[in-house]
This record gives sequence, structure tokens and C-alpha cells, in this order.
Amino acid sequence: MSRHLARRPTRASSRRVSLALSVCFSALLALVIICPPPVAAKDPKPNYGTVIGIDLGTTYSCVGVLRGGRVEIIANDQGHRITPSWVSFTMDRRLIGDAAKNVYHSNPSNTVFDAKRLIGRKADDQSVKRYRKHWPFKVKEKNGSLTIVVRHKGQEREFTAEEISAMVLVKMKETAEAYLGEKITHAVITVPAYFNDAQRQATRDAGTIAGLQVLRIINEPTAAAIAYGLNKKGGESKIIVYDLGGGTFDVSLLEIDDGVFEVLATAGFTHLGGQDFDNRVMDYFVERYREKTGIDVSKNFGALGRLKREVEKAKHTLSSQYITRLEVDSFEGGRDLSGTLTRAKFEELNMDLFLQTMKPVEQVLKDANVKKEEVDEIVLVGGSTRIPKVQQLLKDFFGKEPSKGLNPDEAVAYGAAVQGGILSGAEGTHDILLVDVTPLTLGVETVGGVFTKLIPRNTVVPTRMSKNFTTVEDNQSTVLVQVFEGERPLTKDNNLLGTFKVIGIPPAPHGVPTIENTFEIDANGILKVSATIIETGMSRSLTIKNEKGRLSQEEIDRMVAEAEQFVAEDEAQYKCIEALNTLVAFVYDLENELGNQEGFGGKISNKDKKAILKAIKKTTNWVEANGPRPNIEDIKNTLTVLQGVVSPIRTKAYQKDSNNKKTTQNHDEL
Ligand SMILES: *[C@@H]1O[C@H](CO)[C@@H](O)[C@H](O)[C@H]1NC(C)=O
Ligand SMILES: *[C@@H]1O[C@H](CO)[C@@H](O)[C@H](O)[C@H]1NC(C)=O
Ligand SMILES: *[C@@H]1O[C@H](CO)[C@@H](O)[C@H](O)[C@H]1NC(C)=O
Repeated sequence: MSRHLARRPTRASSRRVSLALSVCFSALLALVIICPPPVAAKDPKPNYGTVIGIDLGTTYSCVGVLRGGRVEIIANDQGHRITPSWVSFTMDRRLIGDAAKNVYHSNPSNTVFDAKRLIGRKADDQSVKRYRKHWPFKVKEKNGSLTIVVRHKGQEREFTAEEISAMVLVKMKETAEAYLGEKITHAVITVPAYFNDAQRQATRDAGTIAGLQVLRIINEPTAAAIAYGLNKKGGESKIIVYDLGGGTFDVSLLEIDDGVFEVLATAGFTHLGGQDFDNRVMDYFVERYREKTGIDVSKNFGALGRLKREVEKAKHTLSSQYITRLEVDSFEGGRDLSGTLTRAKFEELNMDLFLQTMKPVEQVLKDANVKKEEVDEIVLVGGSTRIPKVQQLLKDFFGKEPSKGLNPDEAVAYGAAVQGGILSGAEGTHDILLVDVTPLTLGVETVGGVFTKLIPRNTVVPTRMSKNFTTVEDNQSTVLVQVFEGERPLTKDNNLLGTFKVIGIPPAPHGVPTIENTFEIDANGILKVSATIIETGMSRSLTIKNEKGRLSQEEIDRMVAEAEQFVAEDEAQYKCIEALNTLVAFVYDLENELGNQEGFGGKISNKDKKAILKAIKKTTNWVEANGPRPNIEDIKNTLTVLQGVVSPIRTKAYQKDSNNKKTTQNHDEL
């Protein structure tokens, strides 16, 4: 029995909404991994626990969960609903998220971001070569793959992009666990629609390293469309998802047919987003400052850092206001910077960039041969879509308002959370039928390099299709079965999945023997191709699996172990900080008490007071010397020593105190 049948609605009238995640089959080889595990498939009620949805972004990540029929976006320990996809390695610890971004200026070469631009890519990738120049951290080539090199705890360490992404995923997982109060083991993770198989696999591996079983990898635009409930509309519709984030810009054209999603076309710029708009405004203020004071601050990173924070704020304000004031205290050389920025000026500074974003919009329509009038909805994703001018340009182009209502920073995680809820069988999702489809056509090569299709794309799995073939030469005794996926008529333009040989065809003139080829995809997405010589009944088969370009199981196991090691270190770090806090709080209370008349029952001698002050001094000196990298045992010892000085004095003081009081009232022992 398949997962799909098990989830079929019981009420005859219930709406059938099939969420077909075409991603599932990005490359057929992906099937093995992308669909849920066999055990779960057989179980009518999979026990995944709560399944979270994670938007693993280039600059920020976001996590959500579907509970009680509602999606909740979960804030991190800083109270932020989005978390920087940053990891920083310092002398004594590893920081993730806001903390990592905050220390960037003091630790640039060991602070890693943009791992998403590296994941699943090889060293010879052109775009990687371009990005590398701009990264402050070191990227090393190793066996054609890339690793990020940082110094951590005084040692050089290498991490793959999968491992860095795993660290961000761990942070998102922990954020969810802290909020939900339960262990999370399963997740849905989103990726850009243009991600290829290797990038999707690598993202899945990152999940594994983070201790998460990734039930689905879904396309970001698909997630955003799900968030807006566009899958529930029935019938066929076309949607533009316009995703303008902090550093990347993507446009996708989706077709939703009875809840089945298909990405018709994607386009975009890998480097365009909020950061560019900020830079334009920064340049403007730097220039104005130069005109006014004659001082060039364009190389003064401290001043630029302070300015950037204010510029980001001003940009956000201008999404709802028409004018805002910038104030940067101690901007440079003891001087402050202040000025105003109007929405009109902001738009003028960035107009060419805004206009540029319309080109990929036109491109996807052209590629998919869709007229702009045929687009039913425009969905906005990414913080920069809050910019009124951007919305205006889209409205002018399509002649209709873009969909609003969801926070554009959270729409993708929202959709992933909905998908996670469906997979876990959460409340309110029981009447949704899950269907997986093949995103690419599957077939074999025939004479002349022609791609002969067996399973067309968007076929619902599980499925089985057969076709008869014959020989091209007289007395041909073997045929080579080459399995491809793709949409192009010639196999050379498609992707080879595997080959096998059928031998022992009895001698016969060409065109006489019959070889029946069968393609079978099971509920877990595993493709089995078999060929049977009808004349003899002999058959050969091949199960397609893809390991190419992926981390090996051994490597993943090693990384999982290392990730667990990190969690243990974090835990130890946390305990250490806790102990240090206890010690410092003890000293603080003690100092307060000594400074108070009533302290020590008001019965402390000057000699004892001096002894305690001396012990405090010794303790604070020790904290200053060892505080940055303390050892938990040392902290505990220091506290014990201090307590050893204080306790007898306190006992003495209170003995006097209670002795006194006993004369007037029957006082209990303290
Ligand atoms: C490079 O890859 C080969 C084959 O995958 C492996 O045997 C070799 O140990 C690798 N070398 C390094 C330096 O990792
Ligand atoms: C292939 O040929 C055999 C023998 O003629 C027949 O039994 C079988 O149904 C054919 N298969 C297909 C897919 O047409
Ligand atoms: C095919 O094989 C048969 C019998 O083995 C033989 O008579 C015939 O000449 C062969 N044909 C060719 C084209 O080799």
C-alpha cells in the first residue's frame, strides 16, 4: 500500500488537493532520497513527530511549524523571526546566527556566510570562482570539491558547505525545539527552483548532518505559493513568484493544475538585492559627507559599519513613510552624521536596479511562452519586495496588484511549514491528498541518439510503463539500454542516469526480436528499469541510484559525529558560562551586602570585612585573567575558595545575631 492511498480522504465530498512536488524528481536519481522512507510509506500514520519547515536562505533562514491548523513562525533566542545564515569560529567557541553576524567585524576571516552559494557546487563552477574573490573567509579546493578554511580554537579547520549549512539548520532546529518543548527529528527544507540535483542532494545531506531527516526538499516559489493557499484554488492557474531578498533575486513562473505544481521557467540575478540598495544610499551619504567636510570615509570601515545600520533602518522606514532622518553618533573623528532621506531620493538612487528586476520577469514569460495577461497571481517573497516602487513596477507591468498579506521574509518558511504539517498528518490537513510526480520525462536512447520517452513528466508515482523495442542489425545478440531523463528530443541534451546490457538475443533478422523495456517507479521514488527478451523470457534489470557528486555515507557519518561533538562542546560552553555567572553573581551580591549596613546581620567586624574584600579582589582578578577562556573546574574551585572565606564569617555574624535575638524572642535557627 502506498502512502498516497493511505492518506486518501474518507469523506467523498472532501476537496482533493494534490500537492505534487515536482522537485521530488529533479533528477530521477534524486528519487531514492527525496521521498519518505519505505517504513513510513507502509505506515498509514507516519510517526515523524512535529515536522518543521525551514527556509534555508543565502542571507537569512526562517523556521515555521503548523500547529492547530495555523502556521507559526518561530522567533530565535534573540526574539528575531529570521536568523542570519552565518557561522563564526572564534578562539573559544562557535557562534551561529545573530551572534555570528555581530562579531563579523572583529573576526572577518573566520566568519562564514553565503554557504548556500557553495553548496553542491564543484571547484570549477564559474559562479563559485566569481564569489570567491569577495569572501573574507578562505575557500580551498580539494579533489575538485571546495572546503571552507577557518581557525577555530587555535587550529585550522576545514568545513564543507554542507557542514556550515548543517550548523545553521541545527540553530533552526534548536529554535523550534526551544519553542515547542519537544525534540524535532523531521523537516521540510526549501531550495531555489533553479537548484540542480547535486545542490538538492547536498542540502539534504546538510539536514542529515544536522540530525534532521529531510522529508521533502521543495522549491522556494512553490512554498510561497502554498503559503498563499494558491494550491487550493482548483483548476489551472499561472503564478509569478518575484523573490527579491538580501542578496539574490529570482523570478519563477509556476503553473498549478488541480494542486499539482510545475515550475515553467526561472530567471534572475545571483547578486542583486537589499544590500545593493543599501550600498547606493551609503555611497550617497559618503559623497555628501565628503562635500561638506572634505573627509573621505569610503575606507573607514568602522564609520561605514555604523552608517550601514542606520541606512538599513532608513530603508525600512521609507517603505511606509515618505521621509526619514538618519543620525549616526560618533560617525567619524568624533563628529556625528545626520541627514534626511526621502522616498523619492531612495528611488532615484536605485531606479536602474529596480528596473533591472523586470527583465527576468519578461524572460520567464518569454521562455514559457506565456502572456502577461495569463498570469493569475503575483506573489512577493523577500524583504526587499516591501519597497513600494518595486510593487508599483509589478503592478504597472501586470495591471494587477501583487498578493500581499504574508510577511515576505516568512512566506517561504510558511509554505514549508504547511508542507511539514501535511506530512506529519497535523490537524486540519487530513483532507489533503499528497501526490508525488516525476518532474522530468524518463526514457531510453534509440537509434541515432533519439530520446524515446517511457514515463512523461508529471506522472503520478508509483507508476509502471512498458514499451517494446527491437534490434537494428541482423543477428544482433546484445543491446545496450541507456536510461535518460530530460525533455529534449536527443539524448545528448538530456541527463544519463545509467546503462546496462541485455545479452543473449537469439539470432534473427533485424526488427524481428522483441525486447520489452519496463520502467517502474515505486512509492519511494526508486526507479527500476528492466528489459526482457520476449523470445527467451530472459531479463536484466537495473535499479538507478546516484552517488555521483555527493558526500559518501562515510563522510556523512563522520560529519554527523562532528556535529554532535559541536553540540557537546556548546553544551560544555553553556555550563561554563553558567558557572561563571554563578561566581560573578555571588561576588556581586557579596559586594552589595558588604556595602549595606544590614549586611551580615550588621555584625561583621572590620577585620572580617577586610578578609572578604581581599578574597573578592583575588576572585575578580582571577575572573579577569581567565574569564575569556575559563575551565569549569577552575571556576567551581574559585567559588569554593571564596565561599570558604565567607561562610565562617557569616556563621559567626549570624550566631552573634541570633544569640542577641534569642534574648527577646524565640527565633528559629536560620
Ligand atoms: C580524492 O578522491 C579520491 C577518490 O574519490 C580519494 O581516493 C582520495 O583519497 C581523495 N583525496 C583527498 C585528498 O581527499
Ligand atoms: C510486447 O510484445 C509482447 C509480445 O508480442 C506483448 O505480449 C507485450 O504486451 C508487448 N508489450 C507492450 C508494452 O506493448
Ligand atoms: C545470421 O545468422 C544466420 C544463422 O546463424 C546466418 O545464416 C546468416 O547468414 C546470418 N546473417 C548475417 C547478416 O550475418
